[in-house]
Amino acid sequence: MVPVTYETGDWRGWRDAAETALYGPRGFYRRPEGPAGHFRTSVHASRLFAAAVARLLTSTAGSLGLEEPALIDVGAGRGELLTGVLAALPPGLPVRAYAVERAARPAGLDPRIEWTAEIPRGLHGLLFANEWLDNVPVDVAEVDAHGVVRRVLVREDGEERLGDEVAGADADWLARWWPLGEPGTRAEIGRPRDEAWAAAAGSLASGLAVAVDYAHTAGDRPPFGTLTGFRDGREVRPVPDGSCDITAHVAMDACAAPGSAELTGQREALRRLGVGGERPPLAMASSDPAGYVRALARAGEAAELTAKGGLGDFTWLMQPVGRPLRDWAA
Ligand SMILES: C[S@@+](CC[C@H](N)C(=O)[O-])C[C@H]1O[C@@H](n2cnc3c(N)ncnc32)[C@H](O)[C@@H]1O
Repeated sequence: MVPVTYETGDWRGWRDAAETALYGPRGFYRRPEGPAGHFRTSVHASRLFAAAVARLLTSTAGSLGLEEPALIDVGAGRGELLTGVLAALPPGLPVRAYAVERAARPAGLDPRIEWTAEIPRGLHGLLFANEWLDNVPVDVAEVDAHGVVRRVLVREDGEERLGDEVAGADADWLARWWPLGEPGTRAEIGRPRDEAWAAAAGSLASGLAVAVDYAHTAGDRPPFGTLTGFRDGREVRPVPDGSCDITAHVAMDACAAPGSAELTGQREALRRLGVGGERPPLAMASSDPAGYVRALARAGEAAELTAKGGLGDFTWLMQPVGRPLRDWAA
């Protein structure tokens, strides 16, 4: 790519370009069909996911002695997860449910769910963010032919070129979390995600903050980054014109608060919350045929949520806030 030494005109860093493309007035996430119109998250894959989050909320409330815990869903889509959790909760546990979302409240949503653009502060309970951090826009850096790390600039049609040398806090972030070496190698500068996550988790007075996303950690960084696009269920070239999702895997170890946070694979996290892919015993097919079919369907859905090479590879960042929790899956 040809380096340029100015950052003006149509050329912008990816962070700026994606911010407009996803959340501007014509932004991808402002569209009426919502994320579910373009890709399938764990929330859409099965109600078992919401049931597991309900279990996590119940155990968090039990551990902290909360009579009316808050459940804050950050990047709530169209409120699908909260709707599922409210349906799955045991009777008798009142919950204050908040959907934090940049898009407008969908018509017909359960009136118990408060819809807000800002994360509420000072609450006690569970803050959950499924596939939110990967949509927090980040800049991209690339090493030029002389070994200089430069910011990648992009035009609305997706054409790229290299801009100024990465300096200051972004350079410090790269040195600490994603050092680059060879010409042509690339990294997404995750600093805005670290900050977004610290602010989200820090908004809780006490409880558990959980981010779930496709992620990587030091030693496992992809040499050319992961920036990509999605539209109508397909992976596409990332073009920041509002026509597609723009996403990149999350450097989750950089987001995690040192000391208190735990990183767990989705397969293991869901197993601890009671979601496994075991098939029902064959004998059940004759003793309880309807129950067998239901159990078989559940096993199939659990298998999708925990599949290797699929949703099971997602990372759960579990961060206790305020007071230490007993075992989060107890
Ligand atoms: C990939 S979708 C995930 C939706 C849902 N959590 C799910 O798992 O199906 C990401 C969502 O995060 C929302 N979002 C991104 N940044 C946000 C912010 N700063 N505040 C609130 N919502 C945000 C987007 O509008 C979008 O609906």
